[in-house]
Amino acid sequence: MTWLPDLSLRITTFPDDRALAKKLAADIAAGLRENPRLVLGLPTGRTPIRLYRELAALCARGEADFSQATTFNLDEFVGIEASHPGSYRTFMEQHLFGKVNLAPERIHFLNGAAPDLDAECRRYEAEITSAGGIHLQILGIGTNGHIGFNEPARELVARTHRVALKAETRRNNAALFGGDPERVPHEALSMGMVTILHARRIILIATGKSKARCIDRTVTGPLTPKLPASFLQLHRHVDLLLDQAAAEKLSS
Ligand code: GLP
Repeated sequence: MTWLPDLSLRITTFPDDRALAKKLAADIAAGLRENPRLVLGLPTGRTPIRLYRELAALCARGEADFSQATTFNLDEFVGIEASHPGSYRTFMEQHLFGKVNLAPERIHFLNGAAPDLDAECRRYEAEITSAGGIHLQILGIGTNGHIGFNEPARELVARTHRVALKAETRRNNAALFGGDPERVPHEALSMGMVTILHARRIILIATGKSKARCIDRTVTGPLTPKLPASFLQLHRHVDLLLDQAAAEKLSS
């Protein structure tokens, strides 16, 4: 475990992604015991798969109770139905929603097939507000420093919005579309930077060597829209949970 007092982000390193997932799952279960009506913000991607597996195991053993919890996912592809095999909704059903006792009416998702996408983004913001805001936002990070689908750009967008995906991001999401980056939608809907930064607490998880550079820039670099995750430095309660490989470029 490393604590860097001169940095605004609190960093904890784990020997491997399994240890990381176990600790975070146990902390979320404890959070649910403390506040059964916890409002969680959730990511997709390869990184949280182990976390979701651990949460499902805790729930099966009666050690995590999601029955009164609320969830909001960060993002969704545009132009595909929720039931599409490549959708983030399908991913979440497979890895978490189908395996824990969340009430379906308290699972919130952006609909990338909505006829009016701007109205859909406004609806999502209003739902987050009426849930009382997000207590704990879990984040992954893209290799280019994106969070949710807030891609590197000249300017970042504050609230939930429609976004054009970078080629690198489409390549990294190809596994959901039979390995073919060409089949990955060109656009997505995503919570904005302010939506994310308004969560009371944020925990970003990163594992593997491919994340080492963007993690180092997130922690030690300037705030820049070229690396959206760098804006997490503005928040008072952000934890970065890393495995050894993702932490390898950080100087202690
Ligand atoms: C996607 C998601 C992000 C996620 C990122 C990293 O682009 N929109 O929310 O953090 O992928 O994915 P992985 O965990 O597979 O590296």
